[in-house]
Amino acid sequence: MEQILFIDACMRGPELSRTHRLCRRFLEEYTARRPDTEVVHRDLSRCDLPLLTGELAQQRGNWGADHPLLAPAREVAAADLILVGAPYWDLAFPAALKVYLEWASTLRITFRYEEDGRQVGLSRARALVYCTTAGGPLEGQNFGFDYVKALGAMLGVPEAHCLAAQGLDIWGADPEAILSQAEQDAAALAQRL
Ligand SMILES: Cc1cc2nc3c(=O)[nH]c(=O)nc-3n(C[C@H](O)[C@H](O)[C@H](O)COP(=O)(O)O)c2cc1C
Repeated sequence: MEQILFIDACMRGPELSRTHRLCRRFLEEYTARRPDTEVVHRDLSRCDLPLLTGELAQQRGNWGADHPLLAPAREVAAADLILVGAPYWDLAFPAALKVYLEWASTLRITFRYEEDGRQVGLSRARALVYCTTAGGPLEGQNFGFDYVKALGAMLGVPEAHCLAAQGLDIWGADPEAILSQAEQDAAALAQRL
């Protein structure tokens, strides 16, 4: 059975979040084509992970892989596909996602070092899909995606795709039309992956 990890940073929740709507369309199409897929949903809007303080980072080195705070790392390591849903906030994404990703980047679970110092990612995920929606244009400032793509590569995820609906809050825009187009893009990507 294949596992999709849905890292859900849609802080306004499924009722209001347009990013969540895009994620749902992707998941709907993906699971329809592969009914044996298990979706692991990590809802960061109700996440109680602590900030990774210096003290916790030091303690983490002594923990076993089954420590409760290392669940994000175990989730990322075990997923076959990773879907990140994150609205465009302050040129990037909500802070809860950064907290999760810091816990996910854990030595010996999601990456390790070779003897020559080279870093090797340990995630088995074959691709990462980043869904975002933005009030204005993203225009070369899609820093959230750029960062998550780079981190994914560090953790061993070789491919990253961005699904975006932008310009939703611009006066005179037609958000429904923009979202429908993005939903079509989401369905098409789900078919390809
Ligand atoms: C805290 C916050 C920060 C935002 N920052 C930006 C921004 O930097 N640039 C932008 O174009 N839109 C920004 N927006 C607008 C959102 O990107 C836009 O409304 C998005 O569709 C919200 O996603 P959601 O419906 O999934 O919650 C921001 C909205 C909020 C609430």
